[in-house]
Amino acid sequence: MVTKVADWLNERLGWRAVWTAVFARQAPKVNWFYTLGSATLFVGITQIVTGILLTMYYVPTPDHAYDSVIYITTQVPFGWLIRGIHHWGSSAMLVLCVLHLLRTYLFGAYKYPREITWLTGVVLLVIVVGFGFTGYLLPWDQKAYAATTVGTDIVNVVPVIGPYLLRIARGGQDISALTLTRFFGGHIWVLPVALAGFIGVHIYLVIRNGISAPPRKDE
Ligand code: HEM
Repeated sequence: MVTKVADWLNERLGWRAVWTAVFARQAPKVNWFYTLGSATLFVGITQIVTGILLTMYYVPTPDHAYDSVIYITTQVPFGWLIRGIHHWGSSAMLVLCVLHLLRTYLFGAYKYPREITWLTGVVLLVIVVGFGFTGYLLPWDQKAYAATTVGTDIVNVVPVIGPYLLRIARGGQDISALTLTRFFGGHIWVLPVALAGFIGVHIYLVIRNGISAPPRKDE
């Protein structure tokens, strides 16, 4: 019965070819260093799941943001766990992403024909840092306020357009309700959409070009 349904769908969707290309393709024997990209992807998926759960209770306004985070941590069943995973997951993702970058650099995996895989990777790293930066403000505590003040001040020193960039980053001259709203919007909409798009291209290229590991004598 299941095979019949699978065959019926395959005739119409051609899903078996996609499955084989993604999960059953020929790959050279690799070592643990080659798992860092998949590890980053796994933590990224965990971040999306825990992030979606957090938005069920988090309120992105100056009046309620801090209280809603305390509520999540102390009242919501397993809220402390979900928040904890999301909190530590953000650091883990950045560390894994940088280790993955170092692996691909040191193994020369950025060279022909993988230059665009590398370039999409650079954009992914910027997006991951963006997640950390925008997420840090969301608890709306003193640490978050101070960190975002310093962080957004940095764009102010860009020659000529610095003050404009600062106003765009903060939604005004100072950190305010507008800053919180745009950081929240960036954190849960703009960056996730960009992340999904660039991961899609990145993984497509990994499949298209194959893993860079040199084949061994018997392969
Ligand atoms: C969200 C961040 C990222 C995710 C989820 C991700 C995911 C992956 C995965 C699953 C692979 C295949 C397995 C592997 O080689 O580990 C891969 C390969 C690759 N990644 Fe990333 N990556 C990310 C960031 C980066 C960064 C920051 C760079 C470099 C600037 C980069 C450059 C590459 C390159 C050059 C390859 C090809 C490696 C090879 O063929 O040996 N990636 N990535």
